[in-house]
Amino acid sequence: MKTEGLLEAAAKASRKAYASYSGYKVGAALLCADGDVFVGCNVENASYGLTVCAERTAIFTAIAAGRRDFVAMAIVADGDSMPYPCGACRQVLSEFCREEFSVYIAKASELEDYEVVCLAALLPHQFKMTD
Ligand code: THU
Repeated sequence: MKTEGLLEAAAKASRKAYASYSGYKVGAALLCADGDVFVGCNVENASYGLTVCAERTAIFTAIAAGRRDFVAMAIVADGDSMPYPCGACRQVLSEFCREEFSVYIAKASELEDYEVVCLAALLPHQFKMTD
């Protein structure tokens, strides 16, 4: 799939976000090596700490579907700043994705002005139990 298609899928997923408390809608689209795409959105909760980010929703959905081989993720959100993934999501991505895994990041209002960064740059020195 082309980058633009992955960003569009993330933007579409962001519109499904349950963001009743922050009002900040995030969407993620995870590209598998075979071309399949799994999407996620943030899902908030009245008990704020139970909120799950869009990126983890996408990767957990893919893992639950039996997938393990991932090549890229697009992340799109409302707002004026670029929606870089939070630290928790970087660590979760690093559990399943290689260092060269590509992360495309864009504001919902300017999908064409995306940034791309690899996972190793987002999370140097990831926590691991073993090598
Ligand atoms: N959020 C994400 O979905 N992904 C991130 O990487 C950071 C934050 C969500 C969680 C919460 O619903 C809202 O953005 C505000 O923190």
